[in-house]
Amino acid sequence: MCTFFFTFCVLVGALMCYSMHGELEESLNLGLTEAIRFYKDTDTPGRCFLKRTVDLLQIEFKCCGNNGYKDWFQIQWISNRYLDMSKKDVRVSDLVISYQDRLRSNVQGKYLMDGVPFSCCNINSPRPCIQQQISNNSAHFNYEHQTEELNLWMKGCRQALLEYYTHIVQSIGLTVLITWLFELSVLTGVRYLQTSLENGLRQGDLNSESDGWLLENGLMETARINLNIIKNIGKCNQIDTANNGDPNIDVPSSSIAH
Ligand SMILES: *[C@@H]1O[C@H](CO)[C@@H](O)[C@H](O)[C@H]1NC(C)=O
Repeated sequence: MCTFFFTFCVLVGALMCYSMHGELEESLNLGLTEAIRFYKDTDTPGRCFLKRTVDLLQIEFKCCGNNGYKDWFQIQWISNRYLDMSKKDVRVSDLVISYQDRLRSNVQGKYLMDGVPFSCCNINSPRPCIQQQISNNSAHFNYEHQTEELNLWMKGCRQALLEYYTHIVQSIGLTVLITWLFELSVLTGVRYLQTSLENGLRQGDLNSESDGWLLENGLMETARINLNIIKNIGKCNQIDTANNGDPNIDVPSSSIAH
């Protein structure tokens, strides 16, 4: 009966593979947001390799930002060490300004601009990558940023990673499910063999035909017995000794009386 319980657990595990989509997306969202936020902190102990990791991620998964390339416009991703603070558009300012201006200005001491790291660049583009002033059409010759599909990776990294992990997890789930079906069929066959052999022994002739069955006492009765067994699973030893010392055969007490 412990085998049935185990089989049931395997099924639950397989089904859980299909239901964890939401949690996975939430974790990816959180992790990517943090990673992008600390991209510039290459001097900070513990975050020195974050830039490298994010760059590799964007290149390998052909993605940019968390939701998309515009995520890089909302944060300062270049360290102050590499910014000329004496320039006007890099100066610290606490002015609240319009969104368009914010892209080229400082808000609360942060240098924001419509540029992305090199790893966002689509390697399939015939044109050398445009990384700076992405939303300014007049800053580049023959450039229309709304229709430019090939310049940067258009997909956000959360989406790319989610598709990747969902694919892996669903493959695992499918394998477990198939294994489970196989296990169930073997278990069913063995159960028929066991009961028919038992009946043959009772008739005293193993060569004659005998009936086999899956459930001896009907569905509801069996479910009740199994529930009791699972309830008592902590006291497994007591159950085993109660069944004639053989832990593999759960003979209901009613059938012993036959
Ligand atoms: C767009 O680029 C042009 C040419 O470099 C520049 O003169 C203009 O100020 C830029 N516009 C914005 C909004 O940054």
